[in-house]
Amino acid sequence: MLTVTAMQRIYLDNNATTRVAPEVLQAMLPCYQDAYGNASSVHAFGQEAKGLLDNARQQVACLLGAEPNEIVFTSGGTESDNLAIRGIVEASPRPNKHVITTQIEHHAVLHTCQALQKAGVRVTCLPVDGEGRLDPADVRHAITPETVLISVMQSNNEIGTTQPLREIGQIALEHDVCFHSDAVQAAGKLPLCVDDLNLDLLCIAGHKFHAPKGVGALYVRKGTRLRPLFFGGAHERNRRAGTENIPQVTALGAAAELARQNLDNRARSIGELRDYFEREVFQRIPEVALNGSPTARISNTSNLRFERADSESLVINLDLAGIACSTGSACASGSIEPSHVLLALGLPVEQAFSSVRFSLSRYTTREEIEAVLEVLPGIVSRCREASPTSARLHARV
Ligand SMILES: Cc1ncc(COP(=O)(O)O)c(C=O)c1O
Repeated sequence: MLTVTAMQRIYLDNNATTRVAPEVLQAMLPCYQDAYGNASSVHAFGQEAKGLLDNARQQVACLLGAEPNEIVFTSGGTESDNLAIRGIVEASPRPNKHVITTQIEHHAVLHTCQALQKAGVRVTCLPVDGEGRLDPADVRHAITPETVLISVMQSNNEIGTTQPLREIGQIALEHDVCFHSDAVQAAGKLPLCVDDLNLDLLCIAGHKFHAPKGVGALYVRKGTRLRPLFFGGAHERNRRAGTENIPQVTALGAAAELARQNLDNRARSIGELRDYFEREVFQRIPEVALNGSPTARISNTSNLRFERADSESLVINLDLAGIACSTGSACASGSIEPSHVLLALGLPVEQAFSSVRFSLSRYTTREEIEAVLEVLPGIVSRCREASPTSARLHARV
């Protein structure tokens, strides 16, 4: 059995970011030393870079069931979400605009919508049920003649719950409304096909599936009117100005290719490990509950509520034991606000403050899970004895 030492740290925070796969690193490194041309240049260096760009575009398109010329490379999930949402709203000639989204979106979507709201756009943030699922009927009822965009995430970053995108896509199609999905947490974890889901726009971020940080993509269905965020050169078919980052884009393509191979088998084996982890936690530790849907969720995510234990203390104590996990979304950690996702499920504040996210990857091993199971019960008991959750609650009021 593996005992956790500082040298053998265990990483269960893969929804925050993932380790770069060796194959991906191998693909990108030569771009810094040899294939360093500008893809817009006509000479051989430029054409070599253009070849790499085209190849990566093909690989990403293949992962999403799209055409290569429907892929726009960006700096990551946040930029892709901004480009999708602002791009559609600002391109619409209608005088009054309405956007539909959900209460559990990532801040990259929610804060973009809030910024639009300040500029006069009407935004409807639909609620979800206790497992984090959106009812497609609520989308149908929310649509008005002014609705220009529906934005619903594929999988939630905190709880892993997946949404009925196909049904929502069908509703969007019937009403001739653009449909966007933040699939940042879904890419590489479950099959994605933009046509099956009737999507017009879809976002991915490389660092969530073993490419480096700072690269992502936006799928934009052919013929969709989109106002760019940046103005400059005619890169990315006028959708995203700026010299393309060939090493990063090459890495994204390689990660997309890697993710596509064996997607189902890999998701199954990660899911089996995650389910084993949860079964054992429920057996070994009293008063633990799952946040989110037990069935409609990505295979790597386990968001657990340890009643009467403070989540920050749990995460810190696990970190001291060499185990990395999270209280929720990385962007929100460090904040004393409870997770907006957990509150949207209807959890009271104290339960939101008792929840920890464990997220696995293809590199997580059974030995690592055993090592976590070994130390977790003791850490939970100690945190329950200390129980600063109530102190934190008092500090808020
Ligand atoms: C669902 C979701 N959307 C968007 C983002 C933002 O992506 P990036 O960190 O690449 O900007 C994240 C990152 O945590 C995410 O989980």
